[in-house]
Amino acid sequence: MTSDLFSTADPTSRERAEQLRRLLQEHGHRYYVLDDPSIPDAEYDHLFRELQSIEAQHPDLVTPDSPTQRVGGKALAAFVSVPHAIPMLSIRTETDTEASGALNFDARVRRELELDASAPAVDYVTEPKFDGLAMSLRYEAGVLVQAATRGDGTVGEDVTQNIRTIGQIPLRLPQAVPQVLEVRGEVYMRRDDFEFLNRRQRDSGQKTFVNPRNAAAGAVRQLDPGIAAQRPLSFFAYGVGEISQPAMGGALFATHFELLQALKAWGFPVSELASTAQGADGLTAYYESIGRQRDNLGFDIDGVVYKVNSLALQARMGFVTREPRWAVAHKFPAQEQLTTVLGIEVQVGRTGKLTPVARLAPVFVGGVTVTNATLHNEDEARRKDVRVGDTVTVRRAGDVIPEVVAVVLDKRLPGAPEFSMLRQCPVCGSAAVREEGEVDYRCTGGLFCSAQRKQAVLHFAQRRAVEVEGLGDKLVDQLVDGELVRTLPDLYRLSVSTLAGLERMAEKSGQNLLEALQKSKVTTLPRFLFGLGIRHVGEATAKELARHFGKLDAIMDASLDQLLQVSDIGPVVAESLHTFFAQAHNREVIKDLRDCGVCWSEGEPAPVVSKPLTGKTLVITGTLPSLSRDEARDLIEAAGGKVAGSVSKKTSFVLAGTESGSKLDRALELGVAVLDETGLRGLLDGSA
Ligand code: IVH
Repeated sequence: MTSDLFSTADPTSRERAEQLRRLLQEHGHRYYVLDDPSIPDAEYDHLFRELQSIEAQHPDLVTPDSPTQRVGGKALAAFVSVPHAIPMLSIRTETDTEASGALNFDARVRRELELDASAPAVDYVTEPKFDGLAMSLRYEAGVLVQAATRGDGTVGEDVTQNIRTIGQIPLRLPQAVPQVLEVRGEVYMRRDDFEFLNRRQRDSGQKTFVNPRNAAAGAVRQLDPGIAAQRPLSFFAYGVGEISQPAMGGALFATHFELLQALKAWGFPVSELASTAQGADGLTAYYESIGRQRDNLGFDIDGVVYKVNSLALQARMGFVTREPRWAVAHKFPAQEQLTTVLGIEVQVGRTGKLTPVARLAPVFVGGVTVTNATLHNEDEARRKDVRVGDTVTVRRAGDVIPEVVAVVLDKRLPGAPEFSMLRQCPVCGSAAVREEGEVDYRCTGGLFCSAQRKQAVLHFAQRRAVEVEGLGDKLVDQLVDGELVRTLPDLYRLSVSTLAGLERMAEKSGQNLLEALQKSKVTTLPRFLFGLGIRHVGEATAKELARHFGKLDAIMDASLDQLLQVSDIGPVVAESLHTFFAQAHNREVIKDLRDCGVCWSEGEPAPVVSKPLTGKTLVITGTLPSLSRDEARDLIEAAGGKVAGSVSKKTSFVLAGTESGSKLDRALELGVAVLDETGLRGLLDGSA
């Protein structure tokens, strides 16, 4: 060990450090940008730690482009201003959200280039308009030296420390890049990362972010890079600022599309959705195609951008004030809109859960008309402090349910009362209680409450329970409100003559409903159990109970201890089952249903055996080579495993096929093991 005596590291350490930096850079690029890692995460971590340890022993070997330097700067007091060598322009917005926006732009380009009708279609590049914030990344001799925000376009802020924490942004570029290279692009946050971040903020009692763009902007403008590092950001490159040209003269690229290809080759993420298009028809087709994909993209976009492809033509067209004439942003209908809160109502769910819902003045957002938005629960409603009469921002992005994200406080009417949760059920008047440790209030009326009765009937009749085809909520409202159905067995006592008295119920539809009811009588024990709507007893638990006990009577008479022996049943579920079956009226309902002819075949209790996937939870994503999702689910359940819909720390494995999306990303992020179909089969037959 010579490092204590000499400040200069031995050549082997120096070489190894350099080699490690190159390796980590290459694998980092594969992981973050190409989404195609070639070594396991553990191996990457191993190389990373080796480099860290060399650098710890030889601080003089630390270089600014070392992957170990992504996080580690000190908190700043303020950001330093950075003048942009070449201004960061903005783009003209085509406000027309119809396809004709594309026609307008093409017509303008042709006019400005003085092309007559016989001239061929103009060649364009089409890109998504990413909804994040613009960033300029300056590389000198291939090393990232500065990252700056757009600011007013002429002067931005130096946010290098925070930008270094973004894994997708290369700290060092391959050899043959221009001496000075400013890459321009968008820093943004993926939707799943945004949801993940907000969940974490909420769980730790911190403020949540309104949308991915605000969350990204907040992260970039964090003075403490340690905090910025915990906010998951992504990047897309879409242009350049200052760039040194080759010494021998001649331009590096002739078109914008070639420029994008070069950026990609240099290691920057460039959207797969960027492409070329010819003439107005090409632009229109792109606008429509991206519009259709918008909800499923994984990140927010607010439109598309059209750019004239030829750099020579771009130069000929030039600028008006700070906007190029050769580019335009063509917007989609907004995913956020302002509207007013007409009222706050409380809805009662099947288990009595009370949910505050904001009734909104109808507003067109994210492609649909929204008239109400959930406020989730009392805490959430208070945190957002939504009041009747308030002007609020409503957001609907992707397949996420519409949400009130914020109140415009300036517009609050004086004297608007604060929302407070009802202490009584709005439907039946029974006391509403919030148990300790719970976020929800519940109506204590049970099946005395007509709202709960309606939900209970709908739950029992749904496809995954006994399935009564055609029994929807409008009909259930009438049956329950008209006191034709007070308890589940009443369903089976309905007759054509009682049904005929109902609104919109002709004799034929009455007949159909009775047939559907008849058909629903022959069911299975798990479906029946699930259909009873016992709190905490979902489909998987119902299946497990049926398998374990074989017969309904055995389940009804089981002691708490016996229930606890069922795999995956814990104290909360056992208690809920026990309480349910201890109530005389529930037993009465079950007896009545059986007397009405509801039946299933009963089996023998299955001995408790440990199967290959007992106690394991799997999430399926993407397309598997030979199994359908349902087949994979059946195999997993038969082996004692459970299938869940979303990935969390508790997930044992993610079973991934081709075109796996965010679930796979989440698994990698949380360090959850990932299997392919062969891996699953290995687990099932015990060979893995
Ligand atoms: S090009 C000369 N391309 O939109 C044109 N901008 O007002 C410079 N943006 O601040 C920008 N996606 O933050 C360009 N594919 C894209 C973009 C894009 C989003 C943002 C960018 C800029 C604003 C333009």
